[in-house]
Amino acid sequence: MSGGRIPEHKIDEVRNAANIAEVIGRRVKLTAAGRTLKGLCPFHGDTDPSFIVNRERGTWHCFGCGEGGNVFTFLMKDEGLSFPEAVKQLAAQYGVSLPTPERTPEQKRRDQHRQRLLRVMELAGNFFIQQLAAPGGAAARRYLTEQRGLRPQVVKDFGLGWTPDAWEGLRRFLGSQGVPEALAIEAGMLVARDKGDGCYDRFRGRVMFPIADISGRVVSFGGRVLGGGEPKYLNGPETLLFKKSATLYNLERARPFMRKKDRALVVEGYFDVITLAAMGFGETVAPMGTALTPQQVRRLKGQASRLVLVFDGDQAGVRAARRSLPLCLAEGVQPQVLLLPTGEDPDSFARAQGAEGLEEAIAGAGSLIEAVLDQIIAEGEQSTPEGKSKIVAEAGSVIKAIGDPVSSWGYLGRLAARLGLPAEVAAARLGLPVPGGRRPSAPAPAPAARQNGASGRQWQEAVLQLALAEPRAAQVLAAEGALAALVDEDLMAVAQAIEHIVGQGADPGASAVISRLDDPDLHRLVSLLAQDGPSLTPEQAEGQAKALCIKIRRWQMRQRNRELTSQIAEAQSRGDMDMVAKLQDQRRREIESVSSFESSRKD
Ligand code: UTP
Ligand code: MN
Repeated sequence: MSGGRIPEHKIDEVRNAANIAEVIGRRVKLTAAGRTLKGLCPFHGDTDPSFIVNRERGTWHCFGCGEGGNVFTFLMKDEGLSFPEAVKQLAAQYGVSLPTPERTPEQKRRDQHRQRLLRVMELAGNFFIQQLAAPGGAAARRYLTEQRGLRPQVVKDFGLGWTPDAWEGLRRFLGSQGVPEALAIEAGMLVARDKGDGCYDRFRGRVMFPIADISGRVVSFGGRVLGGGEPKYLNGPETLLFKKSATLYNLERARPFMRKKDRALVVEGYFDVITLAAMGFGETVAPMGTALTPQQVRRLKGQASRLVLVFDGDQAGVRAARRSLPLCLAEGVQPQVLLLPTGEDPDSFARAQGAEGLEEAIAGAGSLIEAVLDQIIAEGEQSTPEGKSKIVAEAGSVIKAIGDPVSSWGYLGRLAARLGLPAEVAAARLGLPVPGGRRPSAPAPAPAARQNGASGRQWQEAVLQLALAEPRAAQVLAAEGALAALVDEDLMAVAQAIEHIVGQGADPGASAVISRLDDPDLHRLVSLLAQDGPSLTPEQAEGQAKALCIKIRRWQMRQRNRELTSQIAEAQSRGDMDMVAKLQDQRRREIESVSSFESSRKD
């Protein structure tokens, strides 16, 4: 793999220092499954955990989509990092010092610019907190504590602030801190005047909610007016730091709670999040005043197996719930929904019912699919055949989007029953296969390592699996030429990587081997081989490696024997008896060399 300018031994050091379970665990909820960890694959619409992390081997692999690799390739794929970026991130996290990287001047400039924008946001956040504590913040403090019922500690934990109703409060403060106006404008905190020059504060007379990225750094703000002004809420604009569609309010604090409780709650507003979190529902997040986006669903799935959308019990809430269903299904998530009584939002409901009341309501949350189907039926015309047909078609678009055939057939059956139709008829209307009728589609092809190709792919894979499983085995296999004997191109590339590492006196674990390979197909292959491979003590591994070398010799001998036999037959047909004798002699020597090899290997 192109390690850039980071020296190879440093890459190894980072790989060994990084805890793959922890790194992947930040994104995917993992549960122990024997010697490995299991979870929902973040790279495809996984509903049945097929994503395996092997801590000992430092690899991950998904049996659903076939992706796999080591800790670096996970970050590359998951966060879209380059290889050097992934190494650097983990080096910083696990305290491995890297030689000062030689960044291009362009990269340096971009990094510095980002840092400067982050500093503006941090300064602004501090300013708002100061203003809330200042005498001028008295009304806002009363609003937060008395009207919204937030304890001072909660106000502090969420970094809430206040910006006075003036045009230049923040502008002057940032100026005093040496922040150029253009930078504050780019950060979204100041707005340039249309006419003339100069600029003014974007947020005025508002309670301020800092919005953080996943590492807890402030990237934007939401602001709520104190009284009745418009708009009620104002969010910062999209900037280099802030991408609305990928951001969830409170996600940075909520992730550990989501994993612990195996549940994520999605609400609509800032106060809903804060009130619920303060009442013990730390697993609560909210989108940025818009409907849920696919990126946001992707950030949530894998954190917990239950996703509960909590919506206001009004028409808008119902519509929002309905709108979020297709994109959840597209991500392989079957969410639950809690529609609150009319006129309530999560904030008011939680205050009125208390934590226990809310817990009970969440426990009773039903499937969003079912709720949407109910609604489609309720809105439709059930009394006429045409009406029924329309309902089936509309409900069908939901049902067809469900990735899991068992549950889609279940929902279809229920729908049909409620309309008084045979399930087969509803299925026919939607062009869905009928169980027991048409055969289900062919099963997905087996992963590469399971296919036992004719040309001895099986033994070649066995060699690699053994070498990846135990360094002692790899040494034996390298020394006896078993690794050099591989013939399939992809397997050969892996074998060469292993030989290279063994040659350097290092341990060729799967993760180290992946680091030496550029091709993502080979990363998948290695992670799969490692995943499927045996768990052995060094002694067992050595024994198996020797036995395997014997088998390979035999296999090679049989091949050679076949070749010689046909050459002998050919020489005989030509009447070239000298050649026949020579080839027969050669064949005898080959057989002898194999049997002496075998007896020398028998311990
Ligand atoms: P709501 O209007 O439902 O607000 O907007 P709320 O949270 O119940 O507000 P309170 O309780 O009156 O304070 C929900 C979310 O929609 C976004 C905000 O993110 C808000 O938290 N929103 C709302 C806006 O972006 N702009 C608006 O003008 C209103
Ligand atoms: Mn509210």
